[in-house]
Amino acid sequence: PETGSLSIIVLGASGDLAKKKTFPALFNLYRQGFLPADEICIFGYARTKISDDELRNRLHGFLVKEKDASPEQLQDVSKFLHLIKYVSGSYDSENDFHLLDKKISEHESSTNSAEGSSRRLFYLALPPSIYPSVCKMIKTCCMNKSDLGGWTRVVVEKPFGKDLESAEQLSTQIGELFEEPQIYRIDHYLGKELVQNMLVLRFANRLFLPLWNRDNIANVQIVSKEDFGTEGRGGYFDQYGIIRDIIQNHLLQIFCLVAMEKPVSLNPEHIRDEKVKVLQSVLPLKDDDVVLGQYEGYRDDSTVPDHSNTPTFATVILRVHNERWEGVPFILKAGKALNSRKADIRVQFKDVPGDIFKCKKQGRNEFVIRLQPSEAMYMKLTVKQPGLEMSTVQSELDLSYRQRYQGVTIPEAYERLILDTIKGDQQHFVRRDELKASWEIFTPLLHSIDKGEFKSIPYQPGTRGPAEADELLLEKAGYVQTHG
Ligand code: BG6
Repeated sequence: PETGSLSIIVLGASGDLAKKKTFPALFNLYRQGFLPADEICIFGYARTKISDDELRNRLHGFLVKEKDASPEQLQDVSKFLHLIKYVSGSYDSENDFHLLDKKISEHESSTNSAEGSSRRLFYLALPPSIYPSVCKMIKTCCMNKSDLGGWTRVVVEKPFGKDLESAEQLSTQIGELFEEPQIYRIDHYLGKELVQNMLVLRFANRLFLPLWNRDNIANVQIVSKEDFGTEGRGGYFDQYGIIRDIIQNHLLQIFCLVAMEKPVSLNPEHIRDEKVKVLQSVLPLKDDDVVLGQYEGYRDDSTVPDHSNTPTFATVILRVHNERWEGVPFILKAGKALNSRKADIRVQFKDVPGDIFKCKKQGRNEFVIRLQPSEAMYMKLTVKQPGLEMSTVQSELDLSYRQRYQGVTIPEAYERLILDTIKGDQQHFVRRDELKASWEIFTPLLHSIDKGEFKSIPYQPGTRGPAEADELLLEKAGYVQTHG
């Protein structure tokens, strides 16, 4: 591993994302020894004028719950917080970024031995509208200048644009300043344990290889359900809606991993090449393959316009035009304020031909990968009902992570992805052409929603969403529901 100074600069340090995700992930990495105290300095940067200690105090409660913490944990928190320095400045001032650069350089010269390199990681926990200006400041004032090597990398969060055109514009602006290997576009779903497991499952198990195609698979569902609304985020959400918030990025990334061909190797470029190909094989969306919904009460939020048509629920069927998948509907579904919180991938197999047991009514074989909560994989099979009778029943082959891997802590998505950034591994980050291909799929639909041509159907909070969504699946995807 590389050694030498490592400066992590969290821009937008007092914002929600930084407090809830970035700093806690850094803290966990620190506790596990991935951020050695003699190399690291973490800089929080934001406009608010506060001291180092004030930032540390603000972060404390996000790192540990005081009343449940052991003395060791509290000690770790305090050691970690002392690695954090705060720099206040605006996002478009060269003077302020020169000051930031000076502080980083001071840290580097106090840390580096003769052969150590200087590594600078800029984490933009900021609204995308200011990415171009911030990237320009970094490029002008804060690049690693060490003769001893090292790097400068920037991490950016979604939303990367609002449609194909704005995303391409953003990519071009950032692309003029940084090379692709310096840009880490985070999609935190790619850091989830069972999403990372997808390629292993598919390509390291002989069992699945011959089955993973249109001959055997009836449909695939990729679902994210949340049992809470847009609480406190109405202003942001109303500008984007559920498709831009979850489907075009998180669910589409999972779709890629389920549907792509086998990569030439595990080289991140080979993997991303295959993801781009399968995205390019998706046919234009048809209006009658889409159901949109909006939960009742969504517009009560004072930051949401009274007549908003923004969907908080969507079911979209993707159709892939290639040899493996033609005719297999990929159902992407996401919703806020539904009856439960869970995310899973459900691969539903076709009915058994010549069914002598007449077991069809009990349901099809299904392979379910539950991403959260309680990571698990299970396979729904038809078995003989134990007992004297010869009757059949649907049962499960169940691999629940909590039981099978007792005592193993599953890392948080952000933790893993930040560590990848430090290592320079881009496998779980979105490449520019992938981003473009994903916007190509959804942009026409998004434009017609924005123009009010596509209406969101109202649904009651705490339900499965609009009934029309289930009807769509039955009618268009032959989807037989076998769960709640
Ligand atoms: C974010 C969305 O990207 O993902 C949120 O902006 C959503 O609206 C969240 O709630 C879901 O992430 P997770 O990891 O809790 O499933």
